[in-house]
Amino acid sequence: MRTHLAVHAMLVAAAMVVPASAQEPTPPAPAAVAQAPAAPVADGYVWADGCKPCHGAIYEAWHETKHARTIARLSAADKEAACVGCHVTGPKQVVMDGGTHVNANVQCEGCHGPGKAHIEAATSGSAKPGNVVASPPQRLCESCHNDRSPHYRGFFFTALKGLVHKVPK
Ligand code: HEC
Ligand code: HEC
Ligand code: HEC
Ligand code: HEC
Repeated sequence: MRTHLAVHAMLVAAAMVVPASAQEPTPPAPAAVAQAPAAPVADGYVWADGCKPCHGAIYEAWHETKHARTIARLSAADKEAACVGCHVTGPKQVVMDGGTHVNANVQCEGCHGPGKAHIEAATSGSAKPGNVVASPPQRLCESCHNDRSPHYRGFFFTALKGLVHKVPK
């Protein structure tokens, strides 16, 4: 473990000398090595664009919030550090797919859980497709909104829950 961490630290250090511009849109190659034993997988996630066709109004409302751009708060080096876990969706590290950082930001599935099974049920005609977290609980929010966040300024579930996006009546 110590060796792994040392290697990781070296790779992070190596990554940091690469100009930021050279790291976009894909992360530096050493990151893939540092994420041993395997590249992160995100089984069951479809990401926010997969929710948009059926929940367009909610998508638009969410897209206006800061949850839709949390990754922009982090430098390239921060994305390799302990920072990234609370600024992404699903696995607490960068997940790349076809050159795109698919789990960037706090997307729908960061609160409602992976949506693949839900969408399969919905597309096969179910009016109550289920397979999602209908009412994300306070402890879920507090897995990010806590004093391990360097910018923590308190969290008030009842007051803030209505701000994540409009909920249709
Ligand atoms: C093919 C259409 C479709 C897609 C795509 C879709 N949904 Fe749904 N969703 C539905 C339907 C139909 C319902 C049930 C009626 C309603 O509440 O709008 C629903 C309900 C929900 C509910 C409320 C669940 C409940 O039990 O009250 C949540 C939360 C939800 N969807 C989240 C998502 C998320 C997150 C995504 C993307 C990962 C997504 N949906 C993608 C069709 C879809
Ligand atoms: C930061 C967490 C968070 C994010 C991100 C988020 N939601 Fe929600 N969502 C909630 C909460 C909290 C509720 C309210 C549940 C309740 O009323 O108890 C909710 C409610 C819903 C509902 C309605 C459930 C119902 O019974 O009426 C749907 C559908 C839904 N969200 C879909 C989405 C979609 C689609 C996205 C992405 C475009 C998204 N949500 C992003 C937390 C989130
Ligand atoms: C995966 C981590 C994560 C989860 C889960 C999460 N948040 Fe957040 N939230 C963040 C981050 C990071 C920011 C800071 C966004 C910024 O300023 O860039 C934020 C910002 C917010 C904001 C300010 C949004 C704005 O547009 O001003 C509200 C409100 C909020 N969160 C409420 C919630 C609620 C309510 C829940 C649970 C239903 C929740 N969050 C779940 C990470 C999370
Ligand atoms: C435990 C989860 C968590 C970790 C770890 C985390 N953040 Fe955040 N970050 C948040 C949340 C939640 C917010 C929204 C502010 C709050 O805490 O209420 C936020 C907000 C921010 C903001 C917006 C500034 C502000 O005042 O709101 C920046 C910039 C940021 N984080 C950078 C970082 C960096 C850099 C690191 C690593 C050193 C980091 N974050 C680690 C959860 C986290």
